[in-house]
Amino acid sequence: MSNNIRNFCIFAHVDHGKSTLADRLLELTKTISSTKLQPQFLDTNPISRERGITIKLAPVRMEYLQGSKSEDQSPKYILNLIDTPGHVDFSYEVSRSLAACEGAILLVDAVKGIQAQTLSYFRQAKKQGLVIIPAINKIDLSSARVEETVLSMMEVFDFKEEEILFISAKTGKGVEKLLQIVIEKIPPPLGNPDFSLRALVFDSFYDLHKGVIACVRVVDGLIKPGSRLGLMATKTDFVPLEMGYFKPKLKQSDLLENGSVGYLATGLKDIKLVRAGDTVKSSQFTVPSSGSGNSTLPIRQCSKPDPSAGRHSSWLEIKRKKLKMNEKEVQPLEGYKQPKAMVFAGFYPIEQKDYKELVEGLERLGLNDSSLVFKPESSMALGKGFRVGFLGPLHLEVVLERLEREFDLQLITTAPNVVYEVETVEKKFKIENAGQLPEDYLKISEPIVLGIIFTPEKYLGNVMDLCREKRGKLLDMEHIGSLVKLSYKLPFAEVISNFFAQLKSLSSGFASFDYNFDGFVSFDGIKLDVIIADRKVDAFSSIVPREKAYQKGRYLVNKLVKVIPRQMFEAAIQASIGSRVIARETLRAYRKDVTAKLYGGDQTRKDKLLKKQKKGKKKMKAIGRIVVPQEAFLAVLGE
Ligand code: GTP
Repeated sequence: MSNNIRNFCIFAHVDHGKSTLADRLLELTKTISSTKLQPQFLDTNPISRERGITIKLAPVRMEYLQGSKSEDQSPKYILNLIDTPGHVDFSYEVSRSLAACEGAILLVDAVKGIQAQTLSYFRQAKKQGLVIIPAINKIDLSSARVEETVLSMMEVFDFKEEEILFISAKTGKGVEKLLQIVIEKIPPPLGNPDFSLRALVFDSFYDLHKGVIACVRVVDGLIKPGSRLGLMATKTDFVPLEMGYFKPKLKQSDLLENGSVGYLATGLKDIKLVRAGDTVKSSQFTVPSSGSGNSTLPIRQCSKPDPSAGRHSSWLEIKRKKLKMNEKEVQPLEGYKQPKAMVFAGFYPIEQKDYKELVEGLERLGLNDSSLVFKPESSMALGKGFRVGFLGPLHLEVVLERLEREFDLQLITTAPNVVYEVETVEKKFKIENAGQLPEDYLKISEPIVLGIIFTPEKYLGNVMDLCREKRGKLLDMEHIGSLVKLSYKLPFAEVISNFFAQLKSLSSGFASFDYNFDGFVSFDGIKLDVIIADRKVDAFSSIVPREKAYQKGRYLVNKLVKVIPRQMFEAAIQASIGSRVIARETLRAYRKDVTAKLYGGDQTRKDKLLKKQKKGKKKMKAIGRIVVPQEAFLAVLGE
């Protein structure tokens, strides 16, 4: 049966048309009727749909009858497609999808040509030994540069001209041919139904009624209802409450066979127990009466008491013996690295009474997002909040938007920062905010990324200037047609400081960027503080390279004096290193009002500003006597 299965995903740079192609495939295979099909159907998240970006992988099982003959005469194929996100923050989702498939469609936009993520995903797919089917999309557009894109794909990826397909995911042109090639070229999954069960967990999410749902790719063996299963890495046993396929909604089935992609409703409450990359196997503690006796070898053996064990041996002892045997036999599948949060920001409710809702919101989002980490933190300026860890700036934006929208919260967020490695005489440790930097530190190391930039030649000068300014080290430069590919080592702290936006604006949107972490490198960093009206505001502290400290301090006070509204009194805004003030500006008073003090003018002005924020016009927070807007906190990222 697994001969008729094809497991594949589509990978491409952001916006090259993956989700639109998935729509056409759903239509072609009649998985979803055309009347019900909304654009980017597999993007179910509302933020995803609004922004037109995929942020979560989505599997779907499609059935396809090849040829025009009747149902019983045409071969029927089961096509498991995993739609993947394109943005670099979610690239770990792509690596998980690739691991669950035998092949992939590489989609390139005919207008934009090869971009940074196209190359990075191509390399990953190659490394995993996937069959790659190249296709050029958007050929319906008059601005399509098909010939040029073919040449660059031949040059960069070594494809032959005749291998490259031409499609329009929008009009459907060429899509059926592409599907035929998927069936022809991507091999059916290997694996043996008679071997012990091994299934790869490639994703998990939380369902209110069924607990954590594990998305699995069965490699060997079969899964039937009632089987007692085990997760090898987290050593957790469960009997699935339900199992089945993605259509794309959950559709119950009584069998998950080798080679197939499906789900297991584990009934577990903690998503951390069902980690992507873990292996599901048959659990040795099978209850003989569970009716699972015919699935895999160990369960079959366990379902009958072993006569050699003697009449005093308990059933459990027999299971333990089998456990040892089974553990030797079943090797976990190769998983993938757990994604680690690399960007941290403080999240604080504007009104402290909302703290409980913030706890609940983070916990609820954490149920479906194992890469989200958070711990309570309190700031002298902002009160009680959380330090939240993300995969990158877009991940941060999405989580913030969900918290505000779904939990009706108003939050002040501090500027995102990276994790630093710090060494003192006694120990080496990581810090997640500048306030944790001890005074007696000996060394600070910052995370470095290995970045790839693709840019049209005419923007090369601008791009190189930007990278120089961001402390980048050029490693390599290659000309591919009218494009230039640059490899850089860049400090991650600079990447999260508006690098994407600057790169886009100086290349009219044409340059693209992708990166991988490349470890920590020591640098001459110091802590820069901000003092407003004689009060050090911890939420504005940051770690900066010493040679940039003056420039940054000046920029920060200039920016703050512009974005903080005038108050009823004059106040100094200062940047300092230790006790040394390095930049100063004065926040002028709102208006001269000699009677203000008598009548509590400060308070009135402050109340007015806070009322404005309550009406939802602007997010602001009172720090002592000064009311500070959200954009002031983000000023730390600038320059
Ligand atoms: P991410 O999920 O954000 O990575 O994007 P994606 O690769 O899934 O791209 P998506 O399918 O969302 O398409 C991006 C935009 O391109 C949408 O506006 C689509 O309507 C448009 N688009 C996709 N394919 C075609 C095509 O063949 N022709 C034309 N003209 N537009 C297309």
